[in-house]
Parts: sequence; structure tokens; C-alpha cells
Amino acid sequence: MRQVHICEVGPRDGLQNAHHLMPTEAKKRWIAALAGAGVEEIEVGSFVPPKLIPAMADTAEIVSAALSIQGLKVVALAPNVKGFGRAVAAGAHKVTFPVSASRAHSLANVRMTPEQMVEQVKQCVERRGASKVEIEAGISTAFGCTMQGEVPEDDVVRLAVMLTEAGVDCIALADTVGYANPAQIRRLFAKARREIGDKLEAAHLHNTRGLGLANALAAYEEGVRHFDSSMGGLGGCPFAPGASGNVITEDLVFMFESMGVPTGISFEGLMQARKLMVEGIPEEPVYGHTPLAGLPKGFHAAA
Ligand code: COA
Ligand code: ZN
Repeated sequence: MRQVHICEVGPRDGLQNAHHLMPTEAKKRWIAALAGAGVEEIEVGSFVPPKLIPAMADTAEIVSAALSIQGLKVVALAPNVKGFGRAVAAGAHKVTFPVSASRAHSLANVRMTPEQMVEQVKQCVERRGASKVEIEAGISTAFGCTMQGEVPEDDVVRLAVMLTEAGVDCIALADTVGYANPAQIRRLFAKARREIGDKLEAAHLHNTRGLGLANALAAYEEGVRHFDSSMGGLGGCPFAPGASGNVITEDLVFMFESMGVPTGISFEGLMQARKLMVEGIPEEPVYGHTPLAGLPKGFHAAA
């Protein structure tokens, strides 16, 4: 049984910030291989204006292909009511909204204030009707922002409360620009949990300053059991200056499995998926320590 849940966000967070486009068919093969490795949840794309992020123009087709994979939870990002409508029409199981705690990043990313974004999310909750689609809010720049600098923890907690009141199913705290440290992770997750309880679900971490795994471990020790990560360490928000890749899926899986914490994901399976990812986007730099070094001799996956 899985004791942590990993959502692979490479096809969305990863490819949105890549310098090269991955062909649609290559995306489909990569996603199928990720699911084959045991990944239970994949954020496969975003419903944003294609002119803004051309790499996401084929998201409806990708969602549709991913829906044919038995047991896979198919997630898509939407920035507004229009994107939510497209996601629901495509059949996504879960839609995640980027709601920035930094006013400056919010305006740069979605051209709305945080409060206007909460209003968009609220409208989507009200409109979902019988569709049963799960709604997540990811609080971006929760640990600091390259434009605004410090983001007060009280602003993050207040936003988490507003989103809970708006009726979202779950909330993630996102370290969009890789500013977080483990002490801060523990403090802010604990503070937010005191206010919103179990609605606080996932940690979305970036590895920009090399603290991705340390922060993931701190979140785990604080009780977090849902993590976003990106294969090969691709990723970053194109509208957050200095943003770079997510915590690396391969290394995150190795960390948990070697600690005896089952992820449900096979490392060998991930390596096959990684091969397809590289084939799909060969010029893009990819990262990961465990993929380069290999598993330790005598390694046992968690039971
Ligand atoms: N999908 C497709 N088209 C959309 C859309 C969506 N989700 N939302 C708006 N549009 C279209 C509108 O219909 C309009 O089209 P038109 O010019 O043909 O009439 C055009 O885009 C502008 O619409 P508007 O509502 O004024 O949007 P905007 O220009 O103020 O941009 C967002 C706002 C939210 C759509 C945009 O900033 C965005 O997508 N941001 C997300 C960026 C992102 O993905 N960041 C990384 C993930 S964190
Ligand atoms: Zn991200």
C-alpha cells in the first residue's frame, strides 16, 4: 500500500517551461509509461490560452488519451472559469488552480489579484454541478516570491482559509521559485493545518536552490503525504522570474522507497519513462542524481 502519493507534474509544470516542444504522440507515450511505472496521478497539461503557452495547446487531446489508462487520476491546471470549462469538457478528474499568495506574481501569472482568483475558483466550485470533478487550489509563491520578496505567512494562511470557504476539495502549498527551507516548510504547513485541517493536502516543491528533497522530507515529517514532482527535474513557471525545475520524481521515489515508505512506483519503470521523455524532448537538459548513479547495490524497494 502506498504511504505517500506522488503526482507527476512533468507533462504540465515541466513542459510549460521547456525550451522545446514535445510532440503530442511522445507526450502520450511518456504518460502511459509513467502510469505503467505505478504513478497513480499525473498532471497532464493546462487549459490556458494556447498563444500564451504553445506547449499546452494539445492538452484536451492529452487528457483524452490519459483517460484511457485504467486507474490513472488525470489532472489538469486551469487559470480561470474558461479553463475550468475546457478541463471539465475534456473529462479531467481533477482541476488545479494556481492561486498566488504574492500579489505581484498573481498579476504577472494570471492577470488577476489573489482575491479575484479566489472568486474564479468559487465560481468553478459552484458550476461543477454533477460533474464530480475534484478541485484543488495550489497556493503559489507560498514561501517567497522573486518579484515581491518575502510573502507573509499570514497572507498564505488567510488565502488557504478563503479557498477552503470557497469550497475547494484540497489545497497545496507551492514553493514556486524554490525559496523554501525545511524549517519554514514545517512551520507553514503546521500553521495552515491548524486553520484548515485536512483540506491541506500536498507539497509542490521546486529544486531551484537544491533543497527540494530536504523540503519534501520536512513536509513528510510534518504529516504531508501528497507530493508533486517532475521527472528529470523539468519545470518552472514562465511568469515567475528565476523559476526552475520541480523536485525530481526519480530522486523523490528513491528517497521514500529507501526509507521504507512505499510510493507504489517502480524505479525501473521510471527509468523506462525517463527514456521516452528524453526521446520526446531530446535537446532539453534533464536532471536527477539516482538516474545517473543507479540504485545502490542490495537496494530493496519498500514493501
Ligand atoms: N483557455 C483558452 N483561452 C482562454 C482562456 C483559457 N483558459 N482564458 C481566456 N482565454 C482567451 C479569451 O477567450 C480571450 O480570447 P480572445 O482574445 O479570442 O477573445 C483571450 O484569451 C484573453 O482573455 P482574458 O480573459 O482577457 O485573459 P487574459 O489575457 O487577462 O489572461 C489568463 C488571463 C488567466 C487566461 C492568463 O493569464 C493565463 O492563462 N495565465 C496562466 C499562465 C500559466 O499557465 N502559468 C503557469 C502555471 S502556474
Ligand atoms: Zn510548479
